[in-house]
Amino acid sequence: MRKRIVAGNWKMNKNFLEAEELVAKVADALETRKLKNTVVVLCPPFPYLELATDIACEAKFSVGAQNVYPDDSGAFTGEVSPVMLESMEVEYCIIGHSERRKYFHESNEFLALKLNALLKHNIIPVFCCGEVLDERNAKKHFKVVEKQLTESVFHLKKDQMAQVVIAYEPVWAIGTGVNATPAQAQEMHAFIRGLIAKKYSKKLADEISILYGGSCNAKNAAELFSNPDVDGGLIGGASLKEDDFMGIIDSL
Ligand code: 13P
Repeated sequence: MRKRIVAGNWKMNKNFLEAEELVAKVADALETRKLKNTVVVLCPPFPYLELATDIACEAKFSVGAQNVYPDDSGAFTGEVSPVMLESMEVEYCIIGHSERRKYFHESNEFLALKLNALLKHNIIPVFCCGEVLDERNAKKHFKVVEKQLTESVFHLKKDQMAQVVIAYEPVWAIGTGVNATPAQAQEMHAFIRGLIAKKYSKKLADEISILYGGSCNAKNAAELFSNPDVDGGLIGGASLKEDDFMGIIDSL
């Protein structure tokens, strides 16, 4: 059954005490919520993963990392491996975020390696895709997303594909306060689901969670999530405050 997911991508924010406080607040707020078929994921920076997984084992959220290196171990100064994440009981990992594509020049081919590495270690990849504004204005957004999925994801076998979560994050909507309209989100999500159906099967496509990300907040979440192919959100700025984040979770 398709899961509904709200994941908070904290990006490079919060000091240790602030992180402790936010994790505790979200855990408290979730305690009284009934989360039927809904998964909440917190993706703090690497140094705070352990404090999050410590609390997560008794709370109603899972923990995700924001990045991973595709090798198990070795001389890769500053990198974090899937073995490390798995050993810390990190369940999810974001890959392909546009900020990593832009600032760290991560290619579709490199992301395919990360995807394989995560699946090998039983970590659920949250694979981000999305177009920049020029590409949308040139009406190339479907082509761009198709290329990202074809080159990074569609080499997977059916049983591997079933583990993957997709996040559609139009780059022009990230951190700008301009979210995709519910119709734009639905159109792209249906397109992505159609590609998965064509490559694999309709049954598999129907089971995959496709999240929306980009200026999603407590005010616009309900309308975005009401679309049949929008299965939740990958939340940046609004995941940094407990009230805003809970407002989004309550919209699902
Ligand atoms: P904002 O919610 O801050 O626009 O960020 C979205 C995002 O990049 C989540 O990964």
